[in-house]
Amino acid sequence: VNPCILFASVYDKPDEWRDALRALVPSLDFRVYPDVQQAEDIEAALVWRHPLGMVKQLPNLKLVINLGAGVNHIFDDPDLPPDLTVARLVDPGQTAQISAYVAQHVLAMHRQMPELRRAQNESRWNYIHPMPASECRVGLLGLGNLGRASAELLGRLGFSLFGWSRTQRELAGVSCHSGVDGLQQVLSQSDILVCLLPLTPSTTDLLDARAFARMPKGAAFINAGRGATVVEGDLLAALDSGHIRHAVLDVFRQEPLPAEHRFWQHPAVTVTPHNAAVAEARSSAPQVIDNLMRLRDGRPFINVVDRSAGY
Ligand code: GLV
Repeated sequence: VNPCILFASVYDKPDEWRDALRALVPSLDFRVYPDVQQAEDIEAALVWRHPLGMVKQLPNLKLVINLGAGVNHIFDDPDLPPDLTVARLVDPGQTAQISAYVAQHVLAMHRQMPELRRAQNESRWNYIHPMPASECRVGLLGLGNLGRASAELLGRLGFSLFGWSRTQRELAGVSCHSGVDGLQQVLSQSDILVCLLPLTPSTTDLLDARAFARMPKGAAFINAGRGATVVEGDLLAALDSGHIRHAVLDVFRQEPLPAEHRFWQHPAVTVTPHNAAVAEARSSAPQVIDNLMRLRDGRPFINVVDRSAGY
């Protein structure tokens, strides 16, 4: 039988994905939501922030592939059958993008770019003596695919690295920690803290006033994970007091970030519009096709989300 997939994302270009997938399987039946046609043909869907009500329209759906890394949006759907397999993309293209974003902003924090920008706005020559990267401690929260790639790039740039993950990891050149005590250790040693955690019940509100207070005075914070990991009011208080010197935020509790949100105009905040990294069609296509073939043959899927862990 001819494989069939339903595409549902208003953030990604369907033509790009169709072409990348058909380059591998020319006969692929590629449908774009809401044009489902014979809904009973559809056993697999490739989705990013799919509309509520979609899943109910697909009686034979067996596999949902998240068009991206973080799957929390999928679980926001109350109609999601409990036994439906959810997979995600583990895309080398997206991995390269996120590690570049992390490196870009770690370097900007390390080289005091916000302060230099302020000085330039005032035509003020503020000589800041550069510090070696090895004297700057970067803490990475989340050591999955994206965190590990970021650690590797930061390591090559010479930073001193600390990492925290739910389950203990071993990474060359990274002082790895896990558990509640481990988090405190990493926070207290992070001159720059980078969050790449998935959003789960145990990471929601994880970074609150107490967490920011644990960080060294004058530390910087970068969030390219999920907004709801951060208690935004607590972060604003830490920025107002100067305890956190700058925050680079790609993700927010509410997206798009509302125009009246204080982050927009805060002098110590850099906002990027949740575009740190996206899955790329060409580099993701092989794993999507692989999972469609596994579906056809009844073999176990790859990159499956552990529903109990939430990622
Ligand atoms: C982006 O936020 C992703 O999860 O892929």
